[in-house]
Amino acid sequence: MTTTALADSARAIVAAGKGVLAADETPRTLTQRLAARTIQSTAETRRAYREMFFTTPGISEFIGGVILQDETIHQRSSTGTPLVDLLAQEGITPGIKVDNGARPLAGSPGERVTEGLDGLRDRLVAYREMGARFAKWRAVILIGEGLPTAGCVNANAHGLARYAALCQEQGLVPIVEPEVLMDGAHTIDRSEQVTGRVLQAVFDALFEQNVSLEGMLLKPNMVIAGQDCERQASVEEVATATLRTLSRHVPPAVPAIVFLSGGQDHLLATKHLGAINQVGGPKPWKLSYSYGRALQDEALEVWDGRSENVPAGQHAFYHRAKCDSAAALGSYRTEMESEAASA
Ligand code: 13P
Repeated sequence: MTTTALADSARAIVAAGKGVLAADETPRTLTQRLAARTIQSTAETRRAYREMFFTTPGISEFIGGVILQDETIHQRSSTGTPLVDLLAQEGITPGIKVDNGARPLAGSPGERVTEGLDGLRDRLVAYREMGARFAKWRAVILIGEGLPTAGCVNANAHGLARYAALCQEQGLVPIVEPEVLMDGAHTIDRSEQVTGRVLQAVFDALFEQNVSLEGMLLKPNMVIAGQDCERQASVEEVATATLRTLSRHVPPAVPAIVFLSGGQDHLLATKHLGAINQVGGPKPWKLSYSYGRALQDEALEVWDGRSENVPAGQHAFYHRAKCDSAAALGSYRTEMESEAASA
């Protein structure tokens, strides 16, 4: 695939108010989320759960891409259509999580490095044949006393860049996800400092590995205080600090930045994105969403594992995606919450 085709593909995923649904929790993580609501987790209940989102009427207006996980990309809908085809038929681009998870980083207690480069080229070929058009790799960076170390930041940046180069070689758009975690009591200033340093290391590594910036998407955290920090920054402070950090470290050639929600409450994730798009200053990239929990949590609660609740769960998902889409377009207003919910 040419560089231009990759760039077209990247832009299509986030066209006109669209974002990404991150539905790539591993069976283990999804089992934990379901268990928290005493819903049994089997391959079948996980499929039913995914299908509720993928078949939500009209959702392609707000969702341009869905990140799948290995189990899901092999599954078929209740009517026998491969789930990946179901998405493509709706005009939604299917993507696939290809990292093998974050494992303890040897020699650096408390830190993790994302694994999965061995054999990745072959797996990308297989996923492309199954219909995937983009991929995702997530690295996690923990803020703590003396953390992150340069060793951890650089090892993860290198992994992300090697993965991104392999994706582009195989005609897949890489979503590059360096996540500075919200865990801990750090201030928003510390989050800004670490996020900036991590992004700088990632773009240095992408340059070194000859990754075409036009043919990728960046999925970062917002700049936000740690969840145990006594002083939580205001929505405006988060928006200003996030935009300032991105403008310092993300080249304008990147077509779009799609934020992760990272454990933020769904309403706050919408408000933060809305404020980021409303705050003044140059914005050379699209600023949209690739939320997992923030797009799914309300629907999961309403669904509660029961097939009769699927329409209500879809309604909740549609509502959240509509609000997030408005936030991506800079037109979100809090009043939309009641308007859209009662529609
Ligand atoms: P959250 O939005 O729940 O953080 O999930 C996004 C994601 O894909 C994490 O890798």
